[in-house]
Amino acid sequence: MSEIPTSHYVVGDQPIALEDVVDREALEDLCKSIHELFGIGVRVYSSEGVLLANVATEHELCRYINELSGSRAACGSTVSAARSVAPGDDGEVTHPCFTGLAYRIVSLEHEGRRVGRIVLGPYAPAGLREPPPSLAQTDKRLDIARASELVAKVPRVKQEALQRIAAHVKETLELIIFSSHKAWVTSKLHLYSVRESYRELQDKTARLEQTLTRLKEVDRLKSNFLATMSHELRTPLTSIIGYSEMLAEGIAGTLAPEQQEYVRTIHAKGEQLLRLIMGLLDLSKLESGTMSLRQAPAQIAPILKEVISTLTPVARKKEVELVLDADDIACELAADAERLRQVFINLVDNAVKFTPKGGKVAVHARVTEATISPSEEDDDDAGAALLAPLLKQVEVRVSDTGIGIPSVERTKVFDAFYQVDSSSTREYGGTGLGLSIVKRIVDAHGGRVAVEANEPNGTVFVVTLPSAQARRAALPSRVPPALS
Ligand SMILES: Nc1ncnc2c1ncn2[C@@H]1O[C@H](COP(=O)(O)OP(=O)(O)O)[C@@H](O)[C@H]1O
Ligand SMILES: [Mg+2]
Repeated sequence: MSEIPTSHYVVGDQPIALEDVVDREALEDLCKSIHELFGIGVRVYSSEGVLLANVATEHELCRYINELSGSRAACGSTVSAARSVAPGDDGEVTHPCFTGLAYRIVSLEHEGRRVGRIVLGPYAPAGLREPPPSLAQTDKRLDIARASELVAKVPRVKQEALQRIAAHVKETLELIIFSSHKAWVTSKLHLYSVRESYRELQDKTARLEQTLTRLKEVDRLKSNFLATMSHELRTPLTSIIGYSEMLAEGIAGTLAPEQQEYVRTIHAKGEQLLRLIMGLLDLSKLESGTMSLRQAPAQIAPILKEVISTLTPVARKKEVELVLDADDIACELAADAERLRQVFINLVDNAVKFTPKGGKVAVHARVTEATISPSEEDDDDAGAALLAPLLKQVEVRVSDTGIGIPSVERTKVFDAFYQVDSSSTREYGGTGLGLSIVKRIVDAHGGRVAVEANEPNGTVFVVTLPSAQARRAALPSRVPPALS
């Protein structure tokens, strides 16, 4: 909030409404004590005519008058006149009743404004001897003698005493209004500041949403750009690779050994570049959801065997031991074998790459039962039990004794282009695309991939893939969107 609003800002120039700000309980208590002290009824009205407190005991006289219809009507109009009569310039006025009694009406002020009025009475003015003739005129049945008797019973109040009482009540009430108003302004301020914070929050959320939309658009453009670029780069590169290969094979004439060596380098670097470009293309396709993913029956063991035999020469060259343990694995997957091969090529290639000479890389596969996470768990346990035999999954652990991945980096390594060592002097080659492709392919198969530490050193990548049956049995919400 840029500035704290003043009370003036909050309440505006509107006169306060007494019924909004005043503490009614305090008001009622005060009126009660006045009534007990002086025996005079007290009513408090807001300037809108709302009755805020009413403490009065009915005089016997009033009770008698109310028994007769004519007098009752006269009483009613006196009372309503007393309620609305203006207290004049002095802020105080006496309003007579046809019985000879009277009301004293005093205005209530707050910050120089009239905000309501107090009606004291009815009381008998000190000089009242007998009721005026107007009383008899209200109803023919009225017994004047009885009425006079009852008028005599009403306690007499001297004018100065009444003025003192009125001044006292007015002062005290105005004090209550003052403190109630303060509390009211404070609560309004609080409300205002809460509203203001809420509004700010809404603004920020809206801005964040806009940014998100813009970022999504930029991300989409980036994917499109990657797809176009890698496609355009691949075409000339194919020629470079093809022609350098033909040159190396001597199709265009025998080459001198040095020329041979240069041409082979061109060929090797061309192949490396092609792999990089293919990786980019894959990623952009996976990101835009345009990569086709076949879902054919597949077994994990042959895929892993092929991966191991592809990478054995690399491991041997680095003097890293590479072992596979995938016997007795019989669990049908609904998968794209070529894409899964790519997953494990990437993982094993990393494992070998980040493991120093003399280390060991082990690929271990087993069948486990899928656990249903609590949010997906059915209320009906029997249902889950029936599904249990179907919910098989294959777990493949690729572990190495290499440099390891610090725990804070373990989720980041799946981001595209992310490498733990991003310095220009880094020891290991690569683009940082491999794991992001791994994650996307595994996700598209309804599986999961996670990183763990390998004790005492190294890394374990754990890939779990649901069996074909488990995928079919899975609730629709558990099936990731199929890549088209
Ligand atoms: N087995 C591993 N041991 C240690 N670090 C690893 C391992 N696998 C991946 N990483 C880390 O994750 C990063 C991202 O891996 P990847 O996406 O395959 O990219 P690249 O291999 O091209 O660097 C690597 O640069 C490396 O920092
Ligand atoms: Mg890699």
